[in-house]
Amino acid sequence: MNQKDNDRTEHHIDIADTIPSAEPKRQYYFIEQLKKTVKEKSERLGRPLSYKVVTFGCQMNARDSEKLRGILEMVGYEPAESEEADFVLYNTCTVRENANLKVYGRLGYLNSVKKNRPEMIIALCGCMMQEPKVVEKLQKSYRFVDLIFGTHNIYKFAELLYLALTSDRMILDIWKDTDRIVEELPSKRTYSFKSGVNIMFGCNNFCSYCIVPYVRGRERSRRPEDILEEIRRLAGDGVLEIMLLGQNVNSYGKTLEEPVSFAQLLRRVEEEIPELSRIRFMTSHPKDLSDELIQTMKDSRKICRHLHLPLQSGSSRILKEMNRRYTKEQYLELVKRLREAIPDLSLTTDIIVGFPGETEEDFQETMDVVRQAEYDTAFTFIYSKRTGTPAAAMENQVPDDVVKDRFSRLLNLVQEIGRKRTGRFQGQILPVLAESVNEQDSSLLTGRLEQNIVVHFPGTADLIGKIVPVYLRECRGFYYLGERSQEKIYES
Ligand code: 5AD
Ligand code: SF4
Repeated sequence: MNQKDNDRTEHHIDIADTIPSAEPKRQYYFIEQLKKTVKEKSERLGRPLSYKVVTFGCQMNARDSEKLRGILEMVGYEPAESEEADFVLYNTCTVRENANLKVYGRLGYLNSVKKNRPEMIIALCGCMMQEPKVVEKLQKSYRFVDLIFGTHNIYKFAELLYLALTSDRMILDIWKDTDRIVEELPSKRTYSFKSGVNIMFGCNNFCSYCIVPYVRGRERSRRPEDILEEIRRLAGDGVLEIMLLGQNVNSYGKTLEEPVSFAQLLRRVEEEIPELSRIRFMTSHPKDLSDELIQTMKDSRKICRHLHLPLQSGSSRILKEMNRRYTKEQYLELVKRLREAIPDLSLTTDIIVGFPGETEEDFQETMDVVRQAEYDTAFTFIYSKRTGTPAAAMENQVPDDVVKDRFSRLLNLVQEIGRKRTGRFQGQILPVLAESVNEQDSSLLTGRLEQNIVVHFPGTADLIGKIVPVYLRECRGFYYLGERSQEKIYES
């Protein structure tokens, strides 16, 4: 944590007032109430109250956790190193079964911690809580949990925390869906110099294996003015890299009253906020990636040369079953257009192995796309059956040993190609954003190229948050060892 202040808008609330019904005013009312409750509790205990937020899953969850931390710190909690804290919150993921199992495992441990700290509050939120089966199980067998809320009412966290602190019962608040977006709540950024920015919530694609549309709800885009305002504030606070976040950023803006394309939004961000040095975004769905976006990336000086373009499968037959709405040929054609327009692009992807009915021939089609697309990195997943999705009801689920064998062959190929691709910048001097002191060797800094490739180089902590020219001396598989260069490179 190296950020000084909360990002916040001041909302003056007099706590003698009746509880406001409008948002976010209502939450600022509860923030004032919480300040008093936390102060009283900490005076009684003779020490500050501590909190720990643990995030599972994707960048969206990471950003949500920053908002949750923002509120906790605003009301007087201090960050703790471990889960031996007064308030512990797990922000959960449910995209694969493994993610759920991890949460149950850690809850067992939390229960033992709570036995020695009876006043401890344990809270759960995020995607897993949107599954009725999970909540049933928690209510039955995990009675020591104090607060459970979902993805749609996360903006109500201050109110729910107040309830949890002032009640003995388990507080449960889960909504099925929502069409609202509440702006202007505080947040506590993990990094002072870079930040995620939500541009939309939810997903309308219903890929047949995926639980996200059920737990994150229908697609809703934020208004461009609200997004720009947030980024302007972040830039004013020293942020130089932003990551625009959405499950499918390429369909951004389609449902707004005044529709806007994602490429238009990117252009406005770049033109209207000159303090930014780097603009990233995640995730792109191939079916919606427009020529307008490719042109915008090509013309831009600030949009990073990195695109995460999930393939999922290289077999057109499986893609149809997955409801992805593109074929192998269309995907490869898109990659070709991207490579022609932006030659120094770094391409990364997600691939699922063992989708129901996947044959060796289908799998070979995936291997073929991996060879042709030449990904810098590919995140490979074993298909996980998610109850309630269409794929879970499909027959001919692939046997475990077959899936494992395919998975290891795919991983070998992905790594072999990734190593070759990553090495393409060896010997060049390129701008690196220094992000942290290296965990293993404190004489080194760790940073990233705009292509998202990691670079370690000797340097001191005062460089963190700066973009510096680095000579990429040696490629070690997926990262570089480099040295700071005195040579002036192009302004980024
Ligand atoms: N099984 C395995 N992987 C999945 N993903 C989404 N749902 C599943 C599932 N049921 C993967 C996809 C997606 C990434 C975030 O997680 O590859 O792009
Ligand atoms: Fe899931 Fe498909 Fe939506 Fe991505 S686009 S979140 S894989 S349904």
